[in-house]
Amino acid sequence: MTHKLRLGVNIDHIATVRNARGGEHPDPVAGAYAAIKAGADGITAHLREDRRHITDDDLERLQMLCVGENIPLNMEMAAVNDMVEIAKRLKPHAVCLVPERREERTTEGGLDVAGLHNSVTPIVRELRESGARVSLFIEADERQIRAAAASGAPVIEIHTGAYAHALLDGDALRADKIFNAMQSGAKLGASLGLEVHAGHGISFDNVSSIASIPELHELNIGHFIIGEAIFMGLEDAIAEMRRCMDDARGYDG
Ligand code: PXP
Repeated sequence: MTHKLRLGVNIDHIATVRNARGGEHPDPVAGAYAAIKAGADGITAHLREDRRHITDDDLERLQMLCVGENIPLNMEMAAVNDMVEIAKRLKPHAVCLVPERREERTTEGGLDVAGLHNSVTPIVRELRESGARVSLFIEADERQIRAAAASGAPVIEIHTGAYAHALLDGDALRADKIFNAMQSGAKLGASLGLEVHAGHGISFDNVSSIASIPELHELNIGHFIIGEAIFMGLEDAIAEMRRCMDDARGYDG
């Protein structure tokens, strides 16, 4: 048996639904509260530069909720100065730096930490000095993992999106190749002293294999859980994801 895998629930898409009509319903902060009550180990929210889902006000209220509930808030954000200033003021427990392009539908690909080393490293330092636990969202690629470790970030989050897509495409060969890279990437990260997380595109169908990677400490899951909540309710969707994760680890509480 390995250690228990934490489940961070990303509530961005509750805000997506709210924003489709304007107004205040459904409130992502109420969703975060329900997720915490259903067993989420952390709440994740992405403050995008275009504010397409989570707003500054949401993030402030999420921080208040998470501090009150003693649950870590993981703020995802682009590695740009405006966001760094917001994070320094708000002081979320964790900050995950992600690449961001306005025209993308969701975060495509990992942050090029190796290529952006000179700009990412000072941002990691600044955020760490403000008290945040910094993680870098990267592909399971040796060069990126080594660059992440060299940047001083204590955590990496491995992008699982390409693996999820390969499975959806029915391309077992490509899925296996990516899975092997994720396995060895997690091993390398842990051997460099990094805490290794994973996220993106995780669903009931692919969570078991991902959760079986023993070096992983946390999964961050959003779109599938919020979508599945339409059919089975948020509480049951989280409980079922938790069960799949625990089963994959042989964790019986
Ligand atoms: N982790 C990171 C860094 C992300 O950017 C996202 C998407 O916002 C997720 C995890 C969650 O991905 P999904 O919504 O596909 O579960």
